[in-house]
Amino acid sequence: MKETKHKLNGNEYKMEFKPIIVEALAASVLRSIRYAKELPQDIPFKVIANDISPSAVEAIKRNSEYNKIDRIIPSQKDAVILLHENSGKADVIDLDPYGAPNLFLDAAMSAAKNGCLLCVTCTDMACLAGTHVGACYAKYGSMPWHSSNGHEFGLRIH
Ligand SMILES: C[S@@+](CC[C@H](N)C(=O)[O-])C[C@H]1O[C@@H](n2cnc3c(N)ncnc32)[C@H](O)[C@@H]1O
Repeated sequence: MKETKHKLNGNEYKMEFKPIIVEALAASVLRSIRYAKELPQDIPFKVIANDISPSAVEAIKRNSEYNKIDRIIPSQKDAVILLHENSGKADVIDLDPYGAPNLFLDAAMSAAKNGCLLCVTCTDMACLAGTHVGACYAKYGSMPWHSSNGHEFGLRIH
């Protein structure tokens, strides 16, 4: 077990370091696979790979098995519920929704441990920010505004 030393009020404490990575919207699980394969293997981390879609969770299980990874824990929940259930436990949180990520930020803050790394991607930001007006209307039922404020408006489309 990996131990790290911490000092508090002049006293030294040893703590077990077992990082938890949460990929809350994992889809095909490719990011979790990268975490699992590319992080130092002597650290006993685990990756919770979650998606609300049953077929995505099937893909998470299949792709983890295909890559011979046993650190990935598949989960099928609403990301908001999963993050609140893991309150104060996550060392890394990875968010990559289709729409704006705002909906998930409060729950992510709840799940974050002190010093947590929060990684946020907006897969569809170009569309939300007005580059593809027709696609945005088709996907989100909203007309984006392609302007210097486009990203600001895009954050309000879910
Ligand atoms: C943009 S994809 C994620 C792509 C993935 N991060 C990657 O790099 O390949 C967004 C995923 O979020 C899932 N999703 C949407 N709403 C969700 C929710 N409330 N909770 C959990 N997953 C959700 C969708 O099923 C979809 O698979």
